[in-house]
Amino acid sequence: PRKVIYDTDPGVDDAMALYFALAHANIDMVGITTTFGNVSVQQATTNALYLTALVNRKIPVAEGVATPWVKPGEAPPAFIHGADGLGNLPARQPVGGKADGRSAAQFIVDMARAQPGEITLVAVGPLGNLAAALMLEPELPKLLREVILMGGTVLEPGNVSPVAEANIWNDPHAADKVFTAGWKLTMVGLDVTHRVIVPVEMFRRIAQHHKHVATDTLLHAVNFYADFYSGLYPHVAKIHGCFGHDVLAFIYLTNPELFTLEHGRVRVATEGLAQGQTMLRRREVNYPQHGWDTTVPDTQACMQVDADACSTVLEQTLLR
Ligand code: BDR
Ligand code: CA
Repeated sequence: PRKVIYDTDPGVDDAMALYFALAHANIDMVGITTTFGNVSVQQATTNALYLTALVNRKIPVAEGVATPWVKPGEAPPAFIHGADGLGNLPARQPVGGKADGRSAAQFIVDMARAQPGEITLVAVGPLGNLAAALMLEPELPKLLREVILMGGTVLEPGNVSPVAEANIWNDPHAADKVFTAGWKLTMVGLDVTHRVIVPVEMFRRIAQHHKHVATDTLLHAVNFYADFYSGLYPHVAKIHGCFGHDVLAFIYLTNPELFTLEHGRVRVATEGLAQGQTMLRRREVNYPQHGWDTTVPDTQACMQVDADACSTVLEQTLLR
């Protein structure tokens, strides 16, 4: 199995992705790092500890950044993920569990140094922890196996502005540092995540199958999330569903054959009207005087996806 550190802001689709990864035989989650985003970083940590405790998994959780690197923070989107990040759960089981004493960035660096070339970072929130880890250890790109991130968009419109996807919008300066760092980097953005619409019905089948508090919790959260997306998009409302977003980063890891890739250099607009836009310039064209030269490393961006096959992989894995 692939060793993974999961950098996350749970978050409904983050929770879905977490349970997918924990259920998948080819993924070995060796740590979780949390960030602000869908909720405060404290709530993200609470949720990561809670969700793992519900399935009796003791995975170290290291708390990360509480705000964007440069720009001012915004109130978390309670109308999308609930004030608690999990669709406003009516009650929680009493569970124990405490966060690792280290910062997320220190945790990532320590793990990467201890197992050079072994660890894949799957990042599905704003990218401040990765930027902070790069500042602690500039050689980090050589110490990690690869980075797969959910964020950004190439051709599909943004979801927080006409051009910006939420994770990149939430910390554009950190994102630009991540896209120019030089690791093997795959971007799983809205070009593919907006193609995979998962119905609440799927999570009802999964909950009925397991009859477990974890899958009931996921069903509750997804139902809240689907209300939001159904209010926004008629084609999503038709099946009362939601976008898979974060889970697609893991499905890319386990089933890359389901995705079509485009290679290029990605930079992020950090200021102005296009703030948070991920701009991909395909192949060999350079504009050295404007920050686009051959020193900007390659990114592979997921452009197309076999959506039905992804839904099947998701359901089959969560039924395990
Ligand atoms: C991304 O933003 C967050 O709200 C989701 O968890 C996902 O990571 C989608 O744009
Ligand atoms: Ca997320």
